[in-house]
Amino acid sequence: MNVGIIGIGTYVPENIITNEHFESYLDTSDEWITKMTGIKTRRFADDDMDTSDMAVIATQKAIEDAGIQKEAIDLIITATSSGNHTFPSVSCIIQEKLGLNPVPAMDQLAACSGFIYSLITAEQFVKSGTCKNVLVVGSEKLSKITDLNDRNTAMLFGDGAAAVVVSEVSEGKGFIAHEWGSDGSGGQYLFDNVETGYINMNGREVFKFAVRIMGDISTKVVEKANLTADEIDMFIPHQANIRIMEASRERLGIPKEKMSVTIDQYGNTSAASIPLSIMHELKNGKIKDGSKLVLVGFGGGLTYAGMTMVWGK
Ligand code: UT7
Repeated sequence: MNVGIIGIGTYVPENIITNEHFESYLDTSDEWITKMTGIKTRRFADDDMDTSDMAVIATQKAIEDAGIQKEAIDLIITATSSGNHTFPSVSCIIQEKLGLNPVPAMDQLAACSGFIYSLITAEQFVKSGTCKNVLVVGSEKLSKITDLNDRNTAMLFGDGAAAVVVSEVSEGKGFIAHEWGSDGSGGQYLFDNVETGYINMNGREVFKFAVRIMGDISTKVVEKANLTADEIDMFIPHQANIRIMEASRERLGIPKEKMSVTIDQYGNTSAASIPLSIMHELKNGKIKDGSKLVLVGFGGGLTYAGMTMVWGK
């Protein structure tokens, strides 16, 4: 059986925060942020919009795009590190707000690798015949867990959401190969500090890990799929830092124009960053029916995951 994505929907808040905003009160500059991270703007959700609200909007669009009834969803998985609460999960809130059937609903905590982790999980349930249509959501309101007075992290993160429906697809389409894993010894470099409630990061250490693992994993999933780099139409890395993305692109041997870049607009939206990039490339025509994609991410845990897939149903 081939399993893939049959529908996608996204949401980003309207409020655009520029680098100049941080320049106005922190010892930083637009020049430094642009050069060192690739970020120009990010979106921050208003106080009355939480992670679940963005997730609900993205989900509605994804179900509509999939062309299925909401009653056909039989499992909900939300990748998030910034849920409204630890419990109830964002998935349970989506179930209630959209009046979905009383299906299993769970959140997935693999930080920025969460979206790919959730795709891999969803694939197993569809392949085994346990589920037909799994809703996979990546939604983050990172602005509420970022210390906006800490110049090490303040300008890096943004808010946004994306949802997809994972189901059986036709021959030649869907997920081909994946790699995923963890290295808990690096957990100390990126964690939410329970005392402050904010993200705590050793940027240098995370950077080193990311460059190594993003290159390794994307190369591995291309090999595992029996493909070569020049057969890949679009490389969609987690949007954490343009320098990390560039290093992994070069390692994989893919030309610049085949790498999705949305970090300039959205910053790092963690579990939402890869599907937001997929939507961006669908809209500008770079991903089409039959396009071969490499998705790759890393995040707190530390975790990592990659996947090759053919777009379309
Ligand atoms: O989804 C996963 C989440 N996290 C990540 O992906 C983060 C990965 N790490 C990074 O993206 C990078 O480590 C950063 C962009 C956070 C920082 O880049 P770096 O190359 O690791 O720089 P650094 O922290 O070593 O700092 C270099 C210089 C230092 O000055 P000196 O010692 O060279 O004089 C810092 O004090 O830049 C200075 N600096 C800043 N300057 C202006 C650090 N932060 C800032 C700032 N504005 N915001």
